[in-house]
Amino acid sequence: MLLFCVPTSHGVNQVKIGILSGGGDAPGINAVIRAAVRHAIQTYGYETIGVKDGWNGLLQSRYVPLNLKVISGILPKGGSILGTSRTNPFKTKDGPKEAFENLKEKNIDAVLVIGGDDTLTVASKMYDLGLKCVAVPKTIDNDLAGTDATFGFNTAVSIATDALDRLHTTAEAHHRIIVIEVMGRYTGWIALETGIAGGADVILIPEKPFDTQEVCRYIKHRQKRGKKFSLIVVAEGCKPKDGKEILHSTIVDEFGHPQLGGVGYYLAKEIEETLKIETRVVTLGHLQRGGSPTAYDRVLATRFGKAAIDLVHEGKFGHMVALKGKDITSVPLKDVIGKRKTVDLELYDLAQIFFG
Ligand code: F6P
Repeated sequence: MLLFCVPTSHGVNQVKIGILSGGGDAPGINAVIRAAVRHAIQTYGYETIGVKDGWNGLLQSRYVPLNLKVISGILPKGGSILGTSRTNPFKTKDGPKEAFENLKEKNIDAVLVIGGDDTLTVASKMYDLGLKCVAVPKTIDNDLAGTDATFGFNTAVSIATDALDRLHTTAEAHHRIIVIEVMGRYTGWIALETGIAGGADVILIPEKPFDTQEVCRYIKHRQKRGKKFSLIVVAEGCKPKDGKEILHSTIVDEFGHPQLGGVGYYLAKEIEETLKIETRVVTLGHLQRGGSPTAYDRVLATRFGKAAIDLVHEGKFGHMVALKGKDITSVPLKDVIGKRKTVDLELYDLAQIFFG
Protein backbone atom coordinates (compact mmCIF):
# COMPACT_ATOMS: atom_id res chain seq x y z
CA MET A 1 0.00 0.00 0.00
CA LEU A 2 1.32 3.43 -0.93
CA LEU A 3 0.93 5.58 2.16
CA PHE A 4 2.76 8.70 1.09
CA CYS A 5 1.14 9.74 -2.14
CA VAL A 6 0.74 13.31 -3.22
CA PRO A 7 -0.65 14.77 -6.39
CA THR A 8 2.33 16.35 -8.14
CA SER A 9 2.82 18.26 -11.36
CA HIS A 10 4.83 15.32 -12.70
CA GLY A 11 2.06 12.78 -12.19
CA VAL A 12 -0.04 11.50 -9.28
CA ASN A 13 1.89 9.17 -6.97
CA GLN A 14 5.21 9.80 -8.72
CA VAL A 15 6.86 10.87 -5.51
CA LYS A 16 10.25 12.53 -5.93
CA ILE A 17 12.76 12.28 -3.09
CA GLY A 18 15.80 14.53 -2.85
CA ILE A 19 18.81 13.07 -1.05
CA LEU A 20 21.55 15.20 0.52
CA SER A 21 24.59 14.64 2.72
CA GLY A 22 25.89 17.42 4.99
CA GLY A 23 28.71 18.02 7.49
CA GLY A 24 31.96 16.07 7.67
CA ASP A 25 31.87 12.99 5.46
CA ALA A 26 31.83 9.50 6.96
CA PRO A 27 32.61 6.18 5.25
CA GLY A 28 29.24 4.64 4.37
CA ILE A 29 27.38 7.66 2.95
CA ASN A 30 27.39 6.09 -0.49
CA ALA A 31 26.05 2.83 0.94
CA VAL A 32 23.10 4.79 2.40
CA ILE A 33 22.48 6.48 -0.95
CA ARG A 34 22.65 3.18 -2.83
CA ALA A 35 20.20 1.42 -0.51
CA ALA A 36 17.81 4.37 -0.45
CA VAL A 37 17.75 4.75 -4.23
CA ARG A 38 17.37 1.01 -4.88
CA HIS A 39 14.57 0.66 -2.34
CA ALA A 40 12.78 3.85 -3.40
CA ILE A 41 12.76 2.98 -7.08
CA GLN A 42 12.34 -0.80 -6.99
CA THR A 43 9.98 -1.19 -4.03
CA TYR A 44 7.85 1.92 -4.18
CA GLY A 45 8.29 3.28 -7.70
CA TYR A 46 9.52 6.63 -6.36
CA GLU A 47 11.88 8.94 -8.19
CA THR A 48 15.14 10.07 -6.57
CA ILE A 49 17.38 13.05 -7.19
CA GLY A 50 20.70 14.02 -5.58
CA VAL A 51 21.21 17.44 -4.01
CA LYS A 52 24.84 18.56 -4.38
CA ASP A 53 26.95 19.54 -1.34
CA GLY A 54 24.40 19.37 1.45
CA TRP A 55 22.11 22.31 2.21
CA ASN A 56 24.26 24.42 -0.11
CA GLY A 57 22.86 22.56 -3.12
CA LEU A 58 19.32 23.39 -2.06
CA LEU A 59 20.16 27.08 -1.75
CA GLN A 60 21.79 27.11 -5.17
CA SER A 61 19.57 24.57 -6.96
CA ARG A 62 22.41 22.19 -7.73
CA TYR A 63 21.32 18.63 -8.37
CA VAL A 64 22.59 15.38 -9.86
CA PRO A 65 20.58 12.50 -11.29
CA LEU A 66 20.21 9.57 -8.87
CA ASN A 67 19.05 6.44 -10.62
CA LEU A 68 19.98 2.76 -10.67
CA LYS A 69 22.80 3.38 -13.14
CA VAL A 70 24.38 6.20 -11.10
CA ILE A 71 24.45 4.20 -7.87
CA SER A 72 25.94 1.09 -9.44
CA GLY A 73 29.34 0.30 -7.89
CA ILE A 74 29.29 2.98 -5.17
CA LEU A 75 28.87 0.64 -2.16
CA PRO A 76 32.58 0.37 -1.24
CA LYS A 77 33.44 3.99 -2.03
CA GLY A 78 34.32 6.50 0.69
CA GLY A 79 33.29 10.16 0.60
CA SER A 80 29.92 11.09 -0.86
CA ILE A 81 28.98 10.97 -4.54
CA LEU A 82 26.77 13.97 -3.75
CA GLY A 83 29.49 16.01 -2.08
CA THR A 84 29.00 17.67 1.30
CA SER A 85 29.35 21.05 2.98
CA ARG A 86 28.94 22.73 6.34
CA THR A 87 26.44 25.24 4.93
CA ASN A 88 23.76 26.47 7.32
CA PRO A 89 20.78 27.87 5.36
CA PHE A 90 19.66 29.74 8.48
CA LYS A 91 22.84 31.85 8.23
CA THR A 92 21.80 33.16 4.82
CA LYS A 93 19.18 35.89 4.54
CA ASP A 94 16.00 34.19 3.26
CA GLY A 95 17.94 30.88 3.05
CA PRO A 96 15.08 28.61 4.16
CA LYS A 97 12.59 30.46 1.93
CA GLU A 98 14.87 30.03 -1.08
CA ALA A 99 15.36 26.35 -0.27
CA PHE A 100 11.58 25.82 -0.21
CA GLU A 101 11.15 27.69 -3.50
CA ASN A 102 13.89 25.62 -5.13
CA LEU A 103 12.36 22.36 -3.89
CA LYS A 104 9.02 23.37 -5.32
CA GLU A 105 10.54 24.37 -8.63
CA LYS A 106 12.24 20.97 -8.88
CA ASN A 107 9.06 19.13 -7.80
CA ILE A 108 10.84 17.52 -4.84
CA ASP A 109 8.24 16.15 -2.43
CA ALA A 110 10.46 14.90 0.40
CA VAL A 111 14.11 15.10 1.41
CA LEU A 112 16.30 12.38 2.90
CA VAL A 113 18.99 14.10 4.95
CA ILE A 114 22.20 12.27 5.86
CA GLY A 115 24.00 14.15 8.60
CA GLY A 116 25.27 14.72 12.10
CA ASP A 117 24.03 17.13 14.74
CA ASP A 118 24.46 20.34 12.69
CA THR A 119 22.88 19.02 9.49
CA LEU A 120 20.04 17.40 11.43
CA THR A 121 19.42 20.57 13.46
CA VAL A 122 18.79 22.30 10.15
CA ALA A 123 16.56 19.39 9.07
CA SER A 124 14.55 19.69 12.28
CA LYS A 125 14.09 23.46 11.84
CA MET A 126 13.12 22.97 8.20
CA TYR A 127 10.65 20.28 9.26
CA ASP A 128 9.07 22.77 11.68
CA LEU A 129 8.71 25.12 8.70
CA GLY A 130 6.95 22.43 6.67
CA LEU A 131 9.68 20.38 4.96
CA LYS A 132 8.82 16.72 4.55
CA CYS A 133 12.15 15.24 5.60
CA VAL A 134 13.56 12.09 7.14
CA ALA A 135 17.11 11.66 8.45
CA VAL A 136 19.95 9.17 8.62
CA PRO A 137 22.51 9.57 11.45
CA LYS A 138 26.08 10.01 10.25
CA THR A 139 29.30 10.91 12.06
CA ILE A 140 32.60 9.19 12.63
CA ASP A 141 32.53 10.71 16.13
CA ASN A 142 29.57 8.45 17.13
CA ASP A 143 28.24 11.18 19.40
CA LEU A 144 24.75 11.62 17.98
CA ALA A 145 21.94 11.07 20.51
CA GLY A 146 19.00 8.78 19.79
CA THR A 147 20.96 5.97 18.14
CA ASP A 148 23.30 3.33 19.53
CA ALA A 149 25.67 3.84 16.60
CA THR A 150 26.34 6.00 13.58
CA PHE A 151 27.92 4.58 10.46
CA GLY A 152 31.50 5.69 9.79
CA PHE A 153 32.58 5.24 13.40
CA ASN A 154 33.55 1.59 13.00
CA THR A 155 35.71 2.44 9.98
CA ALA A 156 37.41 5.33 11.81
CA VAL A 157 38.21 3.10 14.79
CA SER A 158 39.57 0.37 12.57
CA ILE A 159 41.85 2.81 10.70
CA ALA A 160 43.06 4.34 13.96
CA THR A 161 43.63 0.91 15.53
CA ASP A 162 45.72 -0.14 12.55
CA ALA A 163 47.75 3.06 12.97
CA LEU A 164 48.21 2.37 16.68
CA ASP A 165 49.44 -1.16 15.98
CA ARG A 166 52.00 0.24 13.55
CA LEU A 167 53.11 2.96 15.94
CA HIS A 168 53.57 0.38 18.69
CA THR A 169 56.37 -1.43 16.89
CA THR A 170 58.35 1.69 16.03
CA ALA A 171 57.82 3.25 19.49
CA GLU A 172 59.10 0.06 21.10
CA ALA A 173 62.14 -0.17 18.81
CA HIS A 174 63.16 3.43 19.56
CA HIS A 175 62.16 3.50 23.26
CA ARG A 176 59.98 6.51 22.56
CA ILE A 177 56.68 7.91 23.64
CA ILE A 178 54.26 8.43 20.78
CA VAL A 179 51.16 10.55 21.18
CA ILE A 180 48.50 9.74 18.61
CA GLU A 181 45.84 12.43 18.16
CA VAL A 182 42.52 11.17 16.81
CA MET A 183 39.27 12.91 15.88
CA GLY A 184 36.48 13.50 18.36
CA ARG A 185 35.37 17.08 18.79
CA TYR A 186 33.25 16.72 21.91
CA THR A 187 33.41 13.04 22.77
CA GLY A 188 36.11 10.42 23.05
CA TRP A 189 34.45 7.43 21.36
CA ILE A 190 37.16 7.05 18.70
CA ALA A 191 39.97 7.57 21.22
CA LEU A 192 38.49 5.14 23.73
CA GLU A 193 37.69 2.27 21.37
CA THR A 194 40.95 2.72 19.45
CA GLY A 195 42.90 2.82 22.70
CA ILE A 196 41.27 -0.33 24.02
CA ALA A 197 41.58 -2.19 20.71
CA GLY A 198 45.19 -1.10 20.18
CA GLY A 199 46.40 -1.46 23.77
CA ALA A 200 47.16 2.20 24.50
CA ASP A 201 48.95 3.01 27.76
CA VAL A 202 46.94 6.17 28.36
CA ILE A 203 43.70 7.32 26.70
CA LEU A 204 42.53 10.93 26.99
CA ILE A 205 38.96 11.91 26.13
CA PRO A 206 37.15 15.28 26.02
CA GLU A 207 34.70 14.10 28.69
CA LYS A 208 37.55 14.06 31.24
CA PRO A 209 39.96 17.03 31.24
CA PHE A 210 43.48 15.67 31.69
CA ASP A 211 46.29 16.33 34.12
CA THR A 212 49.70 16.09 32.41
CA GLN A 213 51.39 15.14 35.67
CA GLU A 214 49.07 12.16 36.01
CA VAL A 215 49.92 11.10 32.44
CA CYS A 216 53.62 11.35 33.37
CA ARG A 217 53.01 9.20 36.44
CA TYR A 218 51.57 6.45 34.23
CA ILE A 219 54.61 6.58 31.98
CA LYS A 220 56.99 6.41 34.96
CA HIS A 221 55.04 3.46 36.29
CA ARG A 222 55.53 1.70 32.97
CA GLN A 223 59.24 2.39 33.10
CA LYS A 224 59.41 0.78 36.52
CA ARG A 225 57.80 -2.27 34.93
CA GLY A 226 60.64 -2.28 32.41
CA LYS A 227 58.62 -0.74 29.55
CA LYS A 228 60.70 1.93 27.88
CA PHE A 229 58.04 3.03 25.40
CA SER A 230 54.49 4.32 25.72
CA LEU A 231 51.56 4.99 23.42
CA ILE A 232 49.09 7.72 24.33
CA VAL A 233 45.81 8.21 22.46
CA VAL A 234 44.32 11.68 22.76
CA ALA A 235 41.09 12.97 21.22
CA GLU A 236 41.43 16.31 19.44
CA GLY A 237 38.77 17.88 21.68
CA CYS A 238 40.64 17.11 24.94
CA LYS A 239 41.37 19.96 27.31
CA PRO A 240 44.01 20.12 30.00
CA LYS A 241 42.53 20.54 33.50
CA ASP A 242 41.97 24.27 34.08
CA GLY A 243 42.74 24.90 30.42
CA LYS A 244 40.94 25.36 27.15
CA GLU A 245 40.61 23.13 24.10
CA ILE A 246 43.50 23.60 21.68
CA LEU A 247 42.60 25.10 18.33
CA HIS A 248 44.26 24.71 14.97
CA SER A 249 42.51 27.86 13.78
CA THR A 250 40.07 30.30 15.33
CA ILE A 251 38.03 30.50 12.12
CA VAL A 252 34.60 29.10 12.84
CA ASP A 253 32.26 27.33 10.42
CA GLU A 254 28.62 28.34 9.84
CA PHE A 255 27.61 26.35 12.91
CA GLY A 256 30.13 28.13 15.15
CA HIS A 257 32.73 25.35 15.41
CA PRO A 258 36.42 26.28 15.32
CA GLN A 259 38.97 23.88 13.77
CA LEU A 260 40.47 21.70 16.48
CA GLY A 261 43.95 20.21 16.44
CA GLY A 262 47.20 20.47 18.32
CA VAL A 263 46.48 18.88 21.70
CA GLY A 264 48.86 16.05 20.78
CA TYR A 265 51.75 18.50 20.33
CA TYR A 266 50.80 20.36 23.51
CA LEU A 267 50.88 17.14 25.51
CA ALA A 268 54.08 15.83 23.92
CA LYS A 269 55.95 19.03 24.77
CA GLU A 270 54.80 18.90 28.39
CA ILE A 271 55.77 15.23 28.72
CA GLU A 272 59.18 15.76 27.12
CA GLU A 273 59.91 18.71 29.43
CA THR A 274 58.83 16.77 32.52
CA LEU A 275 60.29 13.32 31.81
CA LYS A 276 63.11 14.13 29.37
CA ILE A 277 62.04 11.24 27.13
CA GLU A 278 61.81 11.71 23.39
CA THR A 279 58.13 12.13 22.58
CA ARG A 280 56.73 12.15 19.03
CA VAL A 281 53.29 13.03 17.72
CA VAL A 282 51.14 11.52 15.00
CA THR A 283 47.93 13.31 14.07
CA LEU A 284 45.64 10.98 12.15
CA GLY A 285 43.24 13.70 11.03
CA HIS A 286 41.22 13.07 7.89
CA LEU A 287 42.82 9.67 7.28
CA GLN A 288 40.15 8.45 9.70
CA ARG A 289 37.35 9.72 7.48
CA GLY A 290 38.69 8.75 4.07
CA GLY A 291 38.46 5.56 2.06
CA SER A 292 36.33 2.49 2.00
CA PRO A 293 33.88 1.68 4.82
CA THR A 294 34.25 -1.51 6.87
CA ALA A 295 31.76 -4.34 6.34
CA TYR A 296 30.01 -3.30 9.59
CA ASP A 297 29.50 0.27 8.35
CA ARG A 298 28.33 -0.90 4.93
CA VAL A 299 25.68 -3.10 6.51
CA LEU A 300 24.54 -0.43 9.00
CA ALA A 301 24.43 2.25 6.31
CA THR A 302 22.46 -0.06 4.01
CA ARG A 303 19.92 -0.79 6.77
CA PHE A 304 19.61 2.95 7.51
CA GLY A 305 19.12 3.87 3.84
CA LYS A 306 16.36 1.31 3.38
CA ALA A 307 14.64 2.28 6.64
CA ALA A 308 14.72 5.99 5.75
CA ILE A 309 12.78 5.30 2.55
CA ASP A 310 10.26 3.28 4.56
CA LEU A 311 9.81 6.35 6.79
CA VAL A 312 9.02 8.43 3.70
CA HIS A 313 6.56 5.79 2.57
CA GLU A 314 4.88 5.81 5.98
CA GLY A 315 4.77 9.61 5.94
CA LYS A 316 6.77 9.61 9.19
CA PHE A 317 8.52 12.89 8.55
CA GLY A 318 10.65 14.75 11.09
CA HIS A 319 12.11 11.39 12.20
CA MET A 320 15.61 9.92 12.11
CA VAL A 321 16.30 6.22 11.62
CA ALA A 322 18.24 4.76 14.52
CA LEU A 323 19.93 1.60 15.77
CA LYS A 324 18.58 0.31 19.10
CA GLY A 325 20.25 -2.89 20.14
CA LYS A 326 20.06 -4.99 17.00
CA ASP A 327 16.97 -3.30 15.60
CA ILE A 328 16.49 -0.40 13.27
CA THR A 329 13.86 1.97 14.60
CA SER A 330 13.18 5.70 14.42
CA VAL A 331 13.18 8.69 16.76
CA PRO A 332 11.79 12.21 16.38
CA LEU A 333 14.49 14.63 15.24
CA LYS A 334 13.60 16.99 18.07
CA ASP A 335 14.73 14.32 20.55
CA VAL A 336 18.12 14.01 18.83
CA ILE A 337 19.38 17.51 18.15
CA GLY A 338 21.28 19.60 20.63
CA LYS A 339 22.05 16.52 22.73
CA ARG A 340 25.21 14.47 22.77
CA LYS A 341 25.98 10.81 23.37
CA THR A 342 29.08 10.89 25.53
CA VAL A 343 31.30 7.87 26.11
CA ASP A 344 30.29 5.01 28.27
CA LEU A 345 32.27 5.66 31.45
CA GLU A 346 32.20 1.97 32.36
CA LEU A 347 34.17 1.37 29.17
CA TYR A 348 36.61 4.07 30.26
CA ASP A 349 37.00 2.30 33.64
CA LEU A 350 37.85 -0.87 31.73
CA ALA A 351 40.45 1.00 29.65
CA GLN A 352 42.04 2.42 32.82
CA ILE A 353 43.01 -1.07 34.02
CA PHE A 354 45.64 -0.95 31.27
CA PHE A 355 46.98 2.55 31.93
CA GLY A 356 50.60 2.74 32.99
O1 F6P B 1 32.42 15.36 11.71
C1 F6P B 1 33.14 15.19 12.85
C2 F6P B 1 34.56 15.54 12.64
O2 F6P B 1 35.19 14.46 12.03
C3 F6P B 1 35.23 15.94 13.95
O3 F6P B 1 35.77 14.88 14.64
C4 F6P B 1 36.27 16.92 13.48
O4 F6P B 1 36.57 17.85 14.49
C5 F6P B 1 35.60 17.59 12.34
O5 F6P B 1 34.72 16.66 11.80
C6 F6P B 1 36.55 18.09 11.30
O6 F6P B 1 35.83 18.64 10.26
P1 F6P B 1 36.48 19.35 9.01
O7 F6P B 1 37.02 18.30 8.12
O8 F6P B 1 35.33 20.06 8.36
O9 F6P B 1 37.51 20.28 9.52
